Amino acid sequence: MKRLNLNLFTIMVLLTAAACKQAPKQEEMPSMPAFSIEKMPFGKVGENEITLYKLSNSSGFTVEIINYGAAIVSILAPDKNGEMGNVVLGFDSLSGYLQPGNPYFGCIAGRYANRIAKAQFTLDGATYKLAANNGPNTLHGGLKGFDKVVWNAMENASDSSASLTLTYLSPDGEEGYPGNLSAEVIYTITNDNALQIDYKATTDKATPINLTNHAYFNLAAGKTADILGHELMLTADNYTPVDATLIPTGKIESTKGGPMDFTSAKPIGKDLAQVSGGYDHNFILNKAGNDLSLAATLYEPTSGRMMEMLTTEPAVQFYSGNFLNGTLTNEDGKAIVKHYGLCLEAQHYPDSPNQANFPNTILKPGETYTQTTIYRFLTK
Ligand code: BGC
Repeated sequence: MKRLNLNLFTIMVLLTAAACKQAPKQEEMPSMPAFSIEKMPFGKVGENEITLYKLSNSSGFTVEIINYGAAIVSILAPDKNGEMGNVVLGFDSLSGYLQPGNPYFGCIAGRYANRIAKAQFTLDGATYKLAANNGPNTLHGGLKGFDKVVWNAMENASDSSASLTLTYLSPDGEEGYPGNLSAEVIYTITNDNALQIDYKATTDKATPINLTNHAYFNLAAGKTADILGHELMLTADNYTPVDATLIPTGKIESTKGGPMDFTSAKPIGKDLAQVSGGYDHNFILNKAGNDLSLAATLYEPTSGRMMEMLTTEPAVQFYSGNFLNGTLTNEDGKAIVKHYGLCLEAQHYPDSPNQANFPNTILKPGETYTQTTIYRFLTK
């Protein structure tokens, strides 16, 4: 079912500062609503209704999210001429998200985003077996990760933001992971054309956790052949080299001077040929604690669109869309070819549950996992 056919069902939630405080005087023009949230049916998964939530600010910056996989479906952001375009890859119907070949478009990946080697880990003396859904390894939470479950959703608009809170209770033993894990993800848009993602989780047994958003960005909104002309800067002097199955070897290596060096902005295509298979690496951010700090900037010269990424996480997986192969079709009808989108996934290092020298990813009962990442859209 196409979304466009469903406008009749649209429910508008409009909130204005003026409406909250006092009615406008007769001679005054009513002010533009600050934020709006529209809801529309997006199909069903079993008995569960899937809803698309459209969060917009008064300048038209819009983020669409569905409660299947808590996935971002589109982000409309202006180019240097003020023309709006969708800057992420997405499908126009639920069937796109349900198909087996969906490369995790816009979803929340979890419980453990990225890979865990040999699909197992040992914690407090017990060995936990996970699904080997990526060669010998587990990827993005297993066969039915957080990208393939239905989340509860609750929208909220105020005069300074619009947000969607998504919650999911992952039962003890789901996909092999211990503990009932209660997860919450809040997507918030603000007037500076930023999308903030706040994550929270608690558990009743010690368990690994690594949540991220898996949006594929294309700041040209599909007007260039691929993302190789996008200029990327990463505040990462180091990265974790990987083996042939993309599991970190355990070494920490300098990015400086080589193809992995994005400490000054450079086109993604510049050194790509020197990286076997393309970029799909964990870049370690230059910081000691978990403060919210600049992780990346991404600039697309033809549209003038720029994105800043800030995160509390210690690392970012930069993935240059190497496995996209033209078999899927984007919301705009174009084939999603290799390098048509790129991911900047705020995260802990891959395989941390098996690598004692990596920052801790074990959440214990009584503790709260938190994560904040902001993607802000600008032009220059
Ligand atoms: C991984 C890629 C993987 C992709 C799945 C990324 O996070 O790093 O290796 O192919 O997700 O679409």
